Amino acid sequence: MKVTVVGAGGNVGSTVALTLAQRDIAKEIILVDIERQVDDKTFYPSKGRALDQWESSPIHLFDTYTHGTTDYADTAGSDVCVITAGVPRKPGMSRDDLLSINAKIVSSVTKELVKHSPNTVIVVVSNPLDVMTYVSYVNSGLDSNRVVGMAGILDTARYRSFIAEELSVSPKDIQALLMGGHGDTMVPLPRYTTVAGIPVTQLIDSDKLDAIVERTKKGGGEIVGLMGTSAWYAPGAAAAQMVEAILLDQNRIFPCCAMLKGEYGVNDLYVGVPVKLGHGGIKEILEVELDDQEKALLDESVEHVKRVMSDFESLNTSS
Ligand code: NAI
Ligand code: 2OP
Repeated sequence: MKVTVVGAGGNVGSTVALTLAQRDIAKEIILVDIERQVDDKTFYPSKGRALDQWESSPIHLFDTYTHGTTDYADTAGSDVCVITAGVPRKPGMSRDDLLSINAKIVSSVTKELVKHSPNTVIVVVSNPLDVMTYVSYVNSGLDSNRVVGMAGILDTARYRSFIAEELSVSPKDIQALLMGGHGDTMVPLPRYTTVAGIPVTQLIDSDKLDAIVERTKKGGGEIVGLMGTSAWYAPGAAAAQMVEAILLDQNRIFPCCAMLKGEYGVNDLYVGVPVKLGHGGIKEILEVELDDQEKALLDESVEHVKRVMSDFESLNTSS
C-alpha cells in the first residue's frame, strides 16, 4: 500500500508521514513538497524529511520506505493522498484568513495527485478545512466519499484530553462526538461524551464542562498563541489515524469533514459529521439525534462554513 503526503516538508505533513511509518502498515510513503529558495541556495524539505525519517527506521523498527520528492510522477498509484500543503496561521489570524492562498495551492495539488492516482482517496488537512476539502473535491473529479477532511478527530482529541486531565483518568477511556465546521463555532457534544460508558455529565459539573467545551473550540488558537504557528503533533496523528482506517478498511466511526447531501438538513456542503471510514473513504454518514439546542449550534456552525464558502466563491468570480 502506498501513501502520498503533500506539504510533507512542513510540520503537519512530516508528522503524518512519520506517524504512519511508525505504524508500519504501508509499503512506502511519498513525501512531496516544493523546492525552497533561501538566498542563492535551493533546499528540498520533502527529501530531507524523508531521508531523516528513513534513517530513524532501524530505531523505530519500521519497514515502510519514506521517499521525498518534488515530482508527482513518484506518487503514481497512491491508495491514499494527504494534502497538508499551504500556509498555517500566525498569531492574530483566523483559519479563514488563509482562504485565497491555500485554495490555489489545494486545487493545483489535487489536480496533480489525481492525474497520477485516479482511484485514490484524498484526506485534506489544509485550512480553512471545510472549504479546502470542497476545493479538493471539485478539482479531483472523484466521488465525494473519496474526498474527506480531517478536523473532527483533532478537535475531539483536544476535548477528550481536557476531560481526561480534569478527571485524572486515562484519555483512552474518553469517547466523544463533535460536529460542525473546523472553527470556533465547532460543536462538542457533552450529551454524546462518556468516560468508560459513564455519561460525562454525571462526572463533571456543567460550569466546568462548559469551560472545557469553550477551550476546545479555541484549542487551535491556544497553540498558535503559545508557538506563533499552528499545531502539528495532534493534527498529524489525527490524519494518520484516518489513513490507517482507510488502508486497513477498519470501518472506524470518526467525526470527519464530509459532503452532506441532505443529512442534517444540509445540502452540497462539506461539514464535520460522524462517518464510517474504510476502503474507498466514507462508507456512511451517521445521522445522530440532536436536541433543539444542539441543532441550533450545528446550524450556526453550518452558517459559518457557508459564509467562508461564499467568500471563496466571490474570490473565484473576481479572479
Ligand atoms: P507548514 O508551513 O509547516 O507546512 C506547509 C508546507 O506546504 C510547507 O512545507 C510548504 O512548502 C508546502 N507547500 C506550499 N505550497 C505547496 C505546493 N504548491 N505544493 C506542495 N507543497 C506546498 O504548515 P503546517 O503547520 O504543516 O500546516 C499546513 C496546513 O495545515 C495549514 O494550512 C494549516 O492551517 C493546516 N492545519 C489544519 C489542521 C486541521 O485540523 N485541519 C490542523 C493543523 C494545521
Ligand atoms: C488547529 O486547529 C490550526 O486548524 C489548526 O490547530
